[in-house]
Amino acid sequence: MGLDSPLLSLTALLVLSLALAKKEDILSRFLLEREQDPGCFDNKYLRDIILNFVIAGRDTTAGTLAWFLYVLCRNEAVQDRIAEEVRAATTGDRDVGAQEFAASLTEDAISKMQYLHAALTETLRLYPAIPVDARCCLSDDTLPDGYAVKKGDMVNYQPYAMGRMDFLFEMWDAKATVGYRPMLTLKMNGPLYVRASPRR
Ligand code: HEM
Repeated sequence: MGLDSPLLSLTALLVLSLALAKKEDILSRFLLEREQDPGCFDNKYLRDIILNFVIAGRDTTAGTLAWFLYVLCRNEAVQDRIAEEVRAATTGDRDVGAQEFAASLTEDAISKMQYLHAALTETLRLYPAIPVDARCCLSDDTLPDGYAVKKGDMVNYQPYAMGRMDFLFEMWDAKATVGYRPMLTLKMNGPLYVRASPRR
Protein backbone atom coordinates (compact mmCIF):
# COMPACT_ATOMS: atom_id res chain seq x y z
CA MET A 1 0.00 0.00 0.00
CA GLY A 2 0.97 3.65 -0.44
CA LEU A 3 1.89 4.13 3.20
CA ASP A 4 4.17 1.15 3.38
CA SER A 5 7.30 2.04 1.49
CA PRO A 6 7.98 5.64 2.62
CA LEU A 7 7.22 4.73 6.23
CA LEU A 8 9.33 1.61 6.05
CA SER A 9 12.26 3.58 4.62
CA LEU A 10 11.79 6.16 7.36
CA THR A 11 11.78 3.38 9.94
CA ALA A 12 14.94 1.90 8.44
CA LEU A 13 16.58 5.34 8.61
CA LEU A 14 15.51 5.81 12.21
CA VAL A 15 16.75 2.34 13.08
CA LEU A 16 20.13 3.14 11.58
CA SER A 17 20.56 6.56 13.17
CA LEU A 18 19.43 5.37 16.59
CA ALA A 19 21.72 2.39 16.42
CA LEU A 20 24.59 4.77 15.70
CA ALA A 21 23.59 7.26 18.40
CA LYS A 22 23.23 4.57 21.12
CA LYS A 23 20.23 6.30 22.70
CA GLU A 24 18.01 4.89 25.42
CA ASP A 25 14.57 5.94 24.18
CA ILE A 26 11.77 3.45 23.60
CA LEU A 27 12.68 2.75 19.97
CA SER A 28 16.31 2.07 20.88
CA ARG A 29 15.13 -0.33 23.56
CA PHE A 30 13.16 -2.26 20.97
CA LEU A 31 16.26 -2.36 18.77
CA LEU A 32 18.37 -3.62 21.62
CA GLU A 33 15.80 -6.33 22.25
CA ARG A 34 16.05 -7.36 18.60
CA GLU A 35 19.85 -7.46 18.79
CA GLN A 36 19.56 -9.86 21.69
CA ASP A 37 16.81 -11.91 20.05
CA PRO A 38 17.24 -11.52 16.27
CA GLY A 39 14.05 -12.14 14.33
CA CYS A 40 11.71 -11.35 17.22
CA PHE A 41 10.11 -8.64 15.05
CA ASP A 42 10.70 -6.98 11.69
CA ASN A 43 10.81 -3.35 10.52
CA LYS A 44 7.12 -3.39 9.62
CA TYR A 45 6.24 -4.27 13.21
CA LEU A 46 8.52 -1.49 14.42
CA ARG A 47 6.91 0.94 11.95
CA ASP A 48 3.47 0.10 13.35
CA ILE A 49 4.69 0.72 16.89
CA ILE A 50 6.12 4.11 15.93
CA LEU A 51 2.95 5.11 14.11
CA ASN A 52 0.84 3.98 17.07
CA PHE A 53 2.93 6.12 19.42
CA VAL A 54 2.71 9.14 17.14
CA ILE A 55 -1.07 8.83 16.85
CA ALA A 56 -1.62 8.04 20.56
CA GLY A 57 0.88 10.56 21.88
CA ARG A 58 0.43 13.70 19.82
CA ASP A 59 -3.00 15.24 20.35
CA THR A 60 -3.31 13.84 23.89
CA THR A 61 -0.17 15.68 24.96
CA ALA A 62 -0.86 18.87 22.98
CA GLY A 63 -4.48 19.08 24.17
CA THR A 64 -3.54 18.45 27.79
CA LEU A 65 -0.82 21.11 27.70
CA ALA A 66 -3.27 23.61 26.17
CA TRP A 67 -5.82 22.97 28.94
CA PHE A 68 -3.04 23.09 31.55
CA LEU A 69 -1.96 26.55 30.37
CA TYR A 70 -5.62 27.61 30.35
CA VAL A 71 -6.21 26.58 33.97
CA LEU A 72 -2.91 28.17 35.04
CA CYS A 73 -3.99 31.47 33.46
CA ARG A 74 -7.13 31.33 35.58
CA ASN A 75 -5.39 30.27 38.81
CA GLU A 76 -2.53 32.57 39.67
CA ALA A 77 -1.91 30.98 43.07
CA VAL A 78 -1.38 27.57 41.42
CA GLN A 79 0.98 29.18 38.91
CA ASP A 80 3.06 30.73 41.72
CA ARG A 81 3.23 27.51 43.67
CA ILE A 82 4.38 25.54 40.63
CA ALA A 83 7.02 28.16 39.79
CA GLU A 84 8.29 28.02 43.38
CA GLU A 85 8.42 24.22 43.34
CA VAL A 86 10.20 24.05 39.99
CA ARG A 87 12.76 26.65 41.10
CA ALA A 88 13.44 24.79 44.34
CA ALA A 89 13.90 21.48 42.50
CA THR A 90 16.16 22.90 39.77
CA THR A 91 18.29 26.03 39.80
CA GLY A 92 16.98 27.82 42.90
CA ASP A 93 16.63 31.59 42.64
CA ARG A 94 19.53 32.00 40.22
CA ASP A 95 18.72 33.54 36.85
CA VAL A 96 19.85 30.99 34.26
CA GLY A 97 19.57 30.54 30.52
CA ALA A 98 17.33 27.95 28.81
CA GLN A 99 20.22 25.53 28.32
CA GLU A 100 21.25 25.42 31.97
CA PHE A 101 17.63 25.18 33.03
CA ALA A 102 17.01 22.26 30.62
CA ALA A 103 20.12 20.48 31.95
CA SER A 104 18.79 20.83 35.51
CA LEU A 105 15.60 18.94 34.62
CA THR A 106 16.92 15.57 35.70
CA GLU A 107 14.71 12.64 36.63
CA ASP A 108 15.56 13.28 40.26
CA ALA A 109 14.53 16.96 39.99
CA ILE A 110 11.30 16.06 38.22
CA SER A 111 10.39 13.50 40.87
CA LYS A 112 10.44 16.35 43.43
CA MET A 113 7.75 18.25 41.51
CA GLN A 114 4.81 16.69 43.34
CA TYR A 115 2.55 19.73 43.14
CA LEU A 116 3.17 20.13 39.40
CA HIS A 117 2.26 16.47 38.93
CA ALA A 118 -0.93 17.01 40.93
CA ALA A 119 -1.78 20.14 38.92
CA LEU A 120 -1.41 18.21 35.66
CA THR A 121 -3.46 15.30 36.97
CA GLU A 122 -6.17 17.69 38.11
CA THR A 123 -6.19 19.21 34.60
CA LEU A 124 -6.81 15.72 33.22
CA ARG A 125 -9.69 15.23 35.67
CA LEU A 126 -11.49 18.29 34.33
CA TYR A 127 -10.34 18.10 30.71
CA PRO A 128 -9.40 14.47 29.98
CA ALA A 129 -7.55 14.10 26.68
CA ILE A 130 -9.62 10.98 26.08
CA PRO A 131 -13.08 11.97 27.33
CA VAL A 132 -14.77 8.71 26.28
CA ASP A 133 -13.13 5.33 25.81
CA ALA A 134 -14.45 1.92 24.78
CA ARG A 135 -13.27 -1.67 24.87
CA CYS A 136 -14.69 -4.75 23.20
CA CYS A 137 -14.82 -7.99 25.18
CA LEU A 138 -12.92 -10.84 23.48
CA SER A 139 -14.24 -13.58 25.76
CA ASP A 140 -16.77 -13.90 28.60
CA ASP A 141 -15.45 -12.16 31.68
CA THR A 142 -16.46 -10.73 35.07
CA LEU A 143 -15.81 -7.13 36.11
CA PRO A 144 -14.36 -6.49 39.62
CA ASP A 145 -17.84 -5.68 40.99
CA GLY A 146 -19.18 -9.05 39.81
CA TYR A 147 -20.92 -7.79 36.67
CA ALA A 148 -20.74 -10.35 33.86
CA VAL A 149 -19.68 -9.25 30.40
CA LYS A 150 -20.15 -11.52 27.42
CA LYS A 151 -17.88 -12.06 24.44
CA GLY A 152 -18.59 -9.27 21.91
CA ASP A 153 -20.00 -6.83 24.51
CA MET A 154 -18.78 -3.27 24.30
CA VAL A 155 -17.76 -1.59 27.56
CA ASN A 156 -17.53 2.22 27.66
CA TYR A 157 -16.32 4.56 30.35
CA GLN A 158 -16.46 8.33 30.33
CA PRO A 159 -13.58 10.06 32.10
CA TYR A 160 -15.05 13.51 31.38
CA ALA A 161 -18.30 12.74 33.22
CA MET A 162 -16.62 10.66 35.93
CA GLY A 163 -14.21 13.49 36.78
CA ARG A 164 -17.25 15.65 37.59
CA MET A 165 -19.22 13.16 39.71
CA ASP A 166 -18.99 14.27 43.33
CA PHE A 167 -19.85 10.89 44.79
CA LEU A 168 -16.71 9.34 43.27
CA PHE A 169 -14.53 11.77 45.22
CA GLU A 170 -16.47 12.52 48.40
CA MET A 171 -14.37 10.25 50.61
CA TRP A 172 -11.47 12.67 50.02
CA ASP A 173 -13.31 15.93 49.88
CA ALA A 174 -17.03 16.77 49.97
CA LYS A 175 -16.60 19.62 47.49
CA ALA A 176 -14.15 17.71 45.37
CA THR A 177 -15.42 18.55 41.95
CA VAL A 178 -16.01 22.27 42.47
CA GLY A 179 -13.38 24.08 40.40
CA TYR A 180 -9.75 23.29 39.73
CA ARG A 181 -8.13 21.76 42.80
CA PRO A 182 -4.66 20.18 42.50
CA MET A 183 -4.69 19.35 46.22
CA LEU A 184 -7.46 16.82 45.52
CA THR A 185 -5.00 14.59 43.68
CA LEU A 186 -2.50 14.84 46.51
CA LYS A 187 -5.21 13.91 49.01
CA MET A 188 -6.30 10.92 46.94
CA ASN A 189 -2.90 9.51 46.04
CA GLY A 190 -0.55 10.83 48.70
CA PRO A 191 2.92 11.61 47.35
CA LEU A 192 3.14 10.95 43.63
CA TYR A 193 6.09 9.41 41.91
CA VAL A 194 7.47 9.65 38.39
CA ARG A 195 6.14 6.55 36.67
CA ALA A 196 8.48 3.97 35.25
CA SER A 197 6.43 3.73 32.04
CA PRO A 198 8.27 5.45 29.18
CA ARG A 199 5.09 6.73 27.59
CA ARG A 200 2.83 7.97 30.39
C1 HEM B 1 -1.77 13.46 28.30
C2 HEM B 1 -1.23 12.45 27.64
C3 HEM B 1 -1.90 11.12 27.44
C4 HEM B 1 -3.11 10.66 27.87
C5 HEM B 1 -4.17 11.38 28.69
C6 HEM B 1 -3.23 9.31 27.39
C7 HEM B 1 -4.33 8.50 27.64
C8 HEM B 1 -4.47 7.23 27.16
C9 HEM B 1 -5.62 6.38 27.38
C10 HEM B 1 -6.85 6.78 28.21
C11 HEM B 1 -5.41 5.22 26.74
C12 HEM B 1 -6.35 4.02 26.67
C13 HEM B 1 -6.03 3.09 27.79
C14 HEM B 1 -6.96 1.93 27.79
O1 HEM B 1 -8.13 2.07 27.41
O2 HEM B 1 -6.53 0.85 28.18
C15 HEM B 1 -4.11 5.31 26.11
C16 HEM B 1 -3.53 4.30 25.37
C17 HEM B 1 -2.32 4.40 24.74
N1 HEM B 1 -1.45 5.46 24.82
FE1 HEM B 1 -1.77 7.20 25.77
N2 HEM B 1 -2.11 8.97 26.68
C18 HEM B 1 -1.28 10.05 26.69
C19 HEM B 1 -0.05 10.16 26.09
C20 HEM B 1 0.55 9.15 25.37
C21 HEM B 1 1.86 9.23 24.77
C22 HEM B 1 2.79 10.47 24.88
C23 HEM B 1 2.08 8.06 24.16
C24 HEM B 1 3.27 7.58 23.37
C25 HEM B 1 4.28 8.31 23.02
C26 HEM B 1 0.92 7.23 24.36
C27 HEM B 1 0.76 5.95 23.87
C28 HEM B 1 -0.34 5.16 24.07
C29 HEM B 1 -0.50 3.84 23.49
C30 HEM B 1 0.52 3.12 22.59
C31 HEM B 1 -1.74 3.37 23.91
C32 HEM B 1 -2.39 2.05 23.56
C33 HEM B 1 -2.17 1.06 24.62
C34 HEM B 1 -2.92 -0.23 24.32
O3 HEM B 1 -3.15 -0.52 23.16
O4 HEM B 1 -3.26 -0.91 25.28
N3 HEM B 1 0.02 7.92 25.11
N4 HEM B 1 -3.57 6.54 26.38
